[in-house]
Amino acid sequence: MFHIRLTDVPGTSTRVVPVGSELDAEMSALVTATDGADARGRITVFPRPLRSPARVLLAGLGDGAEADWRAAGAAAVREAADDEVLEVQLPAGVATESVRGLAEGLWLGGYRYRDAPKPVRSGEVRLIVDNPPAYAESLARAQITARAAWLARDLTNTPSSLKNPEWFAAQIVAEAATRPGLTVSVRAGDELARFGGLLAVGGGSVSSPRFVELSWQPPGATLHVVLVGKGITFDTGGISIKPRDGMKLMKKDMGGAAAVVAATLGAADLDLPVRVTALTPLAENAVSGSAFRPGDVITHYDGSTSENTNSDAEGRIVLADALGYAADVLHPDLVINLATLTGANAVALGKRTAALFSPDDQLAAALTAAGAAAGELMWRLPLSDDYLDNLHSDIADRISAPAGPGSVMAALFLRDFFGDVRWAHLDMSAPSWAESHDLELAKGATGWGARTLLNYLSALDGGQQSGT
Ligand code: BES
Ligand code: MN
Ligand code: ZN
Repeated sequence: MFHIRLTDVPGTSTRVVPVGSELDAEMSALVTATDGADARGRITVFPRPLRSPARVLLAGLGDGAEADWRAAGAAAVREAADDEVLEVQLPAGVATESVRGLAEGLWLGGYRYRDAPKPVRSGEVRLIVDNPPAYAESLARAQITARAAWLARDLTNTPSSLKNPEWFAAQIVAEAATRPGLTVSVRAGDELARFGGLLAVGGGSVSSPRFVELSWQPPGATLHVVLVGKGITFDTGGISIKPRDGMKLMKKDMGGAAAVVAATLGAADLDLPVRVTALTPLAENAVSGSAFRPGDVITHYDGSTSENTNSDAEGRIVLADALGYAADVLHPDLVINLATLTGANAVALGKRTAALFSPDDQLAAALTAAGAAAGELMWRLPLSDDYLDNLHSDIADRISAPAGPGSVMAALFLRDFFGDVRWAHLDMSAPSWAESHDLELAKGATGWGARTLLNYLSALDGGQQSGT
């Protein structure tokens, strides 16, 4: 990540001026003459030859909410050259949330994939404020949140030639090793004997599956949240192979796993007083002579069985094992599942909104609020009983790919495995990817969910038995 620094000493570098803050007479006149300069995320550039600073960027602030500051930061950092030092002139007494939003936006908009040919920006960003120490905590928090999103994006943007389950597991181990208080276990081979779904889905690939358990357990925490993330490192569809257009982006099919891992590491960075465990079933859904077949019956961790009716419905099959493990071994208070689970998510809700399923109104509302604050949208869909018959199998407890509304059917399939805990499932297939830069979203992986989960976990009181 590039450097953002607080200072009360203005320099002579390119100046970013949020519209809405106090401007000198010359700038005020220019803003008045420029239609819409205050629109959210709008940048208006003023070259000032032979003067200092030589370039001023007016950054529109819209309504001035935290999200608007985030948009302004993202837009400003994209406007400037990578080696250009930026100085953001903040109004006297600016709110700490505004500075947090701004810094988050600068980092999120300035994201670059860690293996990209073009390196991350070299010019530092300075935030000019009256009282720098008053904003240090906001800046530190913004950095932890943005770092979580950067990690989730980096993992998801990594090509699947590199990103096999073993590599992904090693990344989690390496990240955990840089932070005190985290433990991690990686299961492979015989240790996966009870994970029938993970073995079936991963069986077609030369890269064997892994099951990673990453745990943040601060002293005194009684509330235990388990985060489960789908970690398909590439989804060909298996024997029920995908058409070529549908397969192109399937390196992103581990976006759920990336988000839950990043959020758990972030919980440690923030020293949150709540116990968090991330579970990631990691497998490649490949086509080969050893791939699982349509008609195969799979025995999951909880002992129940699924008849595979479409090997492209692999996500729910690996998640079933992870959810069964969570219920059986961890006995958490709460399970939140994140998965790039169905193409139907985008059909129902469009490209930026995840589908939220939960029988728990309070949990659904809290997650929705955490997402709204992060600018990560979700919309609740029903767990409609009308379609339960579609899950019927003559030879197993259920089939894996029933007819009916795709995202709802997948959620109904998963529901059985959560056990007797509060739960939510987020199908984030659509918002996990951006086709082009869009304010705080950089082209490519969005890291969807990492920041929402961190917001959600931050609002919990870890000593309480029931969180909101
Ligand atoms: N990984 C896909 C879902 C997906 C599609 C994610 C597009 C992101 C963008 C998932 O494994 C899948 O293939 N789902 C099937 C389920 C069907 C076979 C029941 C789908 O959505 O078509
Ligand atoms: Mn699939
Ligand atoms: Zn998939």
